[in-house]
Amino acid sequence: MSKSDSKPLRRDLSVEETRAELQRHFANHKGSNYADGWAALWAKGDFLPWDRLAPSPALADTLINHADVVGHAIVDHDGETLRKHALVPGCGRGVDVLLLQSFGYDVVGLEYSPDAIKACEDFAKEHAEDYPVHDEKIGKGSIRFVQGDFYAGDWLEKTGFEKDAKFDLIYDYTFFCAMEPRLRPAWAKRMSELLRHSPQANLICLEFPTNKPAAAGGPPFASPPKAYMEHLSHPGQEVKYDAEGNVRINPLAPSSPGALERVGHWHPADTHTIGKNADGKVEDYIAIWRHH
Ligand SMILES: C[S@@+](CC[C@H](N)C(=O)[O-])C[C@H]1O[C@@H](n2cnc3c(N)ncnc32)[C@H](O)[C@@H]1O
Repeated sequence: MSKSDSKPLRRDLSVEETRAELQRHFANHKGSNYADGWAALWAKGDFLPWDRLAPSPALADTLINHADVVGHAIVDHDGETLRKHALVPGCGRGVDVLLLQSFGYDVVGLEYSPDAIKACEDFAKEHAEDYPVHDEKIGKGSIRFVQGDFYAGDWLEKTGFEKDAKFDLIYDYTFFCAMEPRLRPAWAKRMSELLRHSPQANLICLEFPTNKPAAAGGPPFASPPKAYMEHLSHPGQEVKYDAEGNVRINPLAPSSPGALERVGHWHPADTHTIGKNADGKVEDYIAIWRHH
């Protein structure tokens, strides 16, 4: 175990105990200081129950077994090889950033917490050899960990990409479900703004938790496929929820300006244990979204 992951992470707690502890913590961080609640957990560093210290198996499955949908990290354009830009918002310790780099993407890991950024940088140094190049013909991309608030624009200047940077791949893993549901309209608007308008550009959402009752609260907040569908079809707009917190979907409502279209939806071949039921069946979904 390395310096950066040597603190006890209280893995002895059950899922229910862990969720109750998270709810207790965030009861003091509602509203405008919500993101500071995450930063406080990173600053203390002994209760990071989402932190698996290993990349998402569902992302690896998508990149390897669904390349027909999501493509590869490089594209040829007029004899020039272009490397795609990827973003992992709320990247935690940065493990999925390292995975995408090993598949050839130039990747930005965005974190609100300065302590998470430090953890990412340490982990990347100490574990570089655990993320070998996936395909020698494509090679390895670059990584940059950037501190900033997903909902603000200032961090884009720190990515090393152009100022109005758009991304060819965005991976959301336990970021949507980490947000208070009131932030979801802004989440969808920001995703729509950050994703390049291109048939080659994909927002990949790992949908989790898909079966948690909405009334149980969060984080993680209930995130069934229809919640992503309703918000990404109407970026920036209020979406109706019932008294228990279940999204109310109107399947016949026309999509709104900036809407993303779902072009793929499946259970991944594998996912972290938390996304499986007691029989080991994968309950998470992967959803692929694009601009029209
Ligand atoms: C549940 S954790 C998931 C981390 C990572 N995706 C993983 O799977 O290990 C959510 C992360 O989002 C970060 N976060 C929360 N609000 C944010 C914001 N507004 N901008 C950027 N990061 C944020 C938190 O610091 C936290 O590390």
